[in-house]
Amino acid sequence: MENGKQLTGTLALAVFTAALGSLQYGYSLGVINAPQKVIERHYGRSLGVWSDRAANASENHTEEGRVLLEAGQHPAVTMYWSLSVAIFSIGGMLSSFLVGFVGDLKGRVKGMLMVNVLAIAAGLLMSLCQMWKPHIMVISGRAVMGFYCGLTSGLVPMYIGEIAPKSYRGALGTLHQLAIVIGILLSQVIGLDFVLGNDAFWPILLGLSGAPAVLQSLLLPLCPESPRYLYIVLGKEQEARKSLSQGVLWSLIRSPIYRDQLFVALMMHISQQLSGINAIFYYSTSIFAQAGIAQPVYATIGVGAINTVFTLVSVALVDRAGRRTLTLVGLGGMCLCAIAMTVGLKFQNDYAWMSNVSMVAIFLFVSFFEIGPGPIPWFIVAELFSQGPRPAAIALAGCCNWTSNFIIGMTFPYIQEALDCYVFVLFAVLLPPLSLPCAHKSVNMSTEPDFESGDSGASETYPQQCSALRKNGHHGHAKVHLTGIDIF
Ligand code: GLC
Repeated sequence: MENGKQLTGTLALAVFTAALGSLQYGYSLGVINAPQKVIERHYGRSLGVWSDRAANASENHTEEGRVLLEAGQHPAVTMYWSLSVAIFSIGGMLSSFLVGFVGDLKGRVKGMLMVNVLAIAAGLLMSLCQMWKPHIMVISGRAVMGFYCGLTSGLVPMYIGEIAPKSYRGALGTLHQLAIVIGILLSQVIGLDFVLGNDAFWPILLGLSGAPAVLQSLLLPLCPESPRYLYIVLGKEQEARKSLSQGVLWSLIRSPIYRDQLFVALMMHISQQLSGINAIFYYSTSIFAQAGIAQPVYATIGVGAINTVFTLVSVALVDRAGRRTLTLVGLGGMCLCAIAMTVGLKFQNDYAWMSNVSMVAIFLFVSFFEIGPGPIPWFIVAELFSQGPRPAAIALAGCCNWTSNFIIGMTFPYIQEALDCYVFVLFAVLLPPLSLPCAHKSVNMSTEPDFESGDSGASETYPQQCSALRKNGHHGHAKVHLTGIDIF
């Protein structure tokens, strides 16, 4: 196969542009961590529960400030802070249901363009938060940003999956996750207190999460529409109209034909989240501190860097090693690391070197995640479903992902308090049963055939893509053959 021919400039531009949405998602996931104390101070001040003297004392790192911080905060500040963190996932949970609707309404490209309005509005709300009540502005901004991210985390893999040539579909699909992890890493670095994570610049730090949307809006008009979407609109108006109704979600859930694929797809997303990865990303600094690491903030940045490196490894491996192998190796490795972390935490007081065991185990935990369980669920749903039910399946899987992410984010601090050094036993126990559905044979079976020429839509000209799809209508039958009868 002449693979080189398939990676065209248009394809590269389209994937890069789409992945700017994923970058924004990663940035928003990570950005709230580092500046927590700074933002809480500002909330306290605007709520009138923290006097200027106290705020200044704590800002200037004086003894009085330290005592105030340690004495705990006003419950109102804690409440508004928790809401600022959690509302993001609530926004994502709600909007992930709409992915199919937005993607089919005017096409994937116009869909991504439209939702950028949300990202820009959210960025403005947060960067201008000091013009009014910062806690209200930030919470509103995070809600809108979460709503945007719920949409983009479905639209981007759907678009990339539909324009990628089959032989590169895994590698290009993994770029969604690569952009997410780069976004997380960027937010960790920019969030350091001597960069933007300080009293003067924190609103800009939060507001920057909307910046990639501006660039993406400029580039999207240059990107080709998904040829598979055009196929629906041009060739199957009846189906297109049906897939616009929200009833498709329900039909998909009830359909016996897609039961296996749907179960596998949803379980892959649930296992991605219940693996405990975001316990590390949301709370790594406190986990490192608990493990006795001297510079927890820098260890957290180390996690972000390792995360990025191993996502690159996955880009290189995924089309050769297969989705199933990488997912299972990843989840299995994470289980072993969770056990090692427990050993490290348990014996750290007895042996000083045990804190290194915990740290290495955390780094390996993240590496195993990025080899398979991180990137693969995001693009596999587009692969497992044919054109008709694909948007609905992506919407359902996205909703499972966001909901389980929210559950872990909300409950982990309490679990940590209850289980103390045994906290990772929870994930060590959950991981083996979670990996069972991921061993299903359909994980390596793409139902979406390639174009007859062996070429992808994006590497051909626009009219060529569409006419190839219309001419090769029998591909529709190939899909039906693999998936049973198309319910749409
Ligand atoms: C995946 C997960 C996300 C997590 C990230 C870490 O994208 O969906 O929740 O934070 O990986 O790299």
